[in-house]
Amino acid sequence: MKNRDILNLTENYVANTYTRFPVALVRGKGARVWDADGKEYLDFVAGIAVNSLGHCHPAVVRAIQTQSRKLLHISNLYHIAPQAELARELCRHSFADRVFFCNSGAEANEAAIKLARRYGAEWLGGKYEIVSAHNSFHGRTLATLTATGQEKVRAGYDPLPEGFRQVPYNDLAAMEQAVGEKTVAIWVEPIQGEGGVVVPDSGYLKGLRELCDRRRLLLIFDEVQVGMGRTGKLFAYEHFGVEPDIMTLAKALGGGLPVGAMLAKAAVAQSFVPGTHASTFGGNPLVCGVGLAVLKTLTQGGVVKNCARMGRLLFGALQGLKKRFPFIREVRGKGLILGVEMERDGNKIVSDCLESGLLLNCTAQKVLRFLPPLTIGKGEIERALSIVEKVLARQ
Ligand SMILES: Cc1ncc(COP(=O)(O)O)c(C=O)c1O
Repeated sequence: MKNRDILNLTENYVANTYTRFPVALVRGKGARVWDADGKEYLDFVAGIAVNSLGHCHPAVVRAIQTQSRKLLHISNLYHIAPQAELARELCRHSFADRVFFCNSGAEANEAAIKLARRYGAEWLGGKYEIVSAHNSFHGRTLATLTATGQEKVRAGYDPLPEGFRQVPYNDLAAMEQAVGEKTVAIWVEPIQGEGGVVVPDSGYLKGLRELCDRRRLLLIFDEVQVGMGRTGKLFAYEHFGVEPDIMTLAKALGGGLPVGAMLAKAAVAQSFVPGTHASTFGGNPLVCGVGLAVLKTLTQGGVVKNCARMGRLLFGALQGLKKRFPFIREVRGKGLILGVEMERDGNKIVSDCLESGLLLNCTAQKVLRFLPPLTIGKGEIERALSIVEKVLARQ
């Protein structure tokens, strides 16, 4: 099948929920992908921060092969060896003591909401409200879209669940004011992804931690997009010297397989007891076997260091573009989640890059988002930059 045939099938049979580019990508290796007509692209989207080890990384392929020969699925009615091991490794590398596994970022966030509510019911006299941030993104289930600080995500889904409100991001005073009698938790992304790659001021997350400690609230970090090495440290919170009580992961954790995880400190996690939450597929042997291989490759293979180094290189080069093109307002981000905010819509630029063989993404309308695999090399970064530079020069 060629691009055209696949596009026709999508148009005729797939639910119409995405604005898609007119190509079907059918094969990938490292930071390169090919469409059904055989055209090659450099991938600076990486499945929106999923393919952090690049496409078809040997360690991921090997783990899929090894585990799929042993056991693909068994129920959570039984103990699951790769699940138990992955939980131990996630705890060993983070602030957390317990992990609940599920299948996506939204589900990990649902688990966080449910755990916070149960904790509030059990220990805080029935507090349930969660305060999150404007321009945040937490998922598309009814509860997570209600917590999401973007009107367009919520439109048309009334009545929405109760118990959520939003305040401006990076505004400690606004958060302090919003916290009320019913508030059980504060919930933010340590760096906002979909909201336009927004890095908060250095004291913001620390201020939230202090506020939570003072008011006996839970602090929840959504690291679905920025976790697993993306920022140049294994978890984004490590940059800020602050630990949450609950953290959610998904995207890069499964190396391309669907997996989500909610991590929590013991004192909070104990509010989940048998029967309070569950998922048929959550933590199944295959995805956890692969998750273990991903985590091992990230922590033992120098990938996170490469991310920090390549991130600095790319950041510097994007700053250079800012000097050359006056319509670029700001370059921001950490590691290999970098955003270039412009005074204009970025969609035409993204389409032109695609045409020239580079997958790039635009978020918050005006922010070009660079999310290459963390394994990216200097030569690939230079190639991508030369495409971006030519495209910007034509605008
Ligand atoms: C910060 C954040 N949280 C949650 C989600 C939702 O994850 P999923 O699409 O896997 O449900 C995303 C997806 O982009 C995200 O960026």
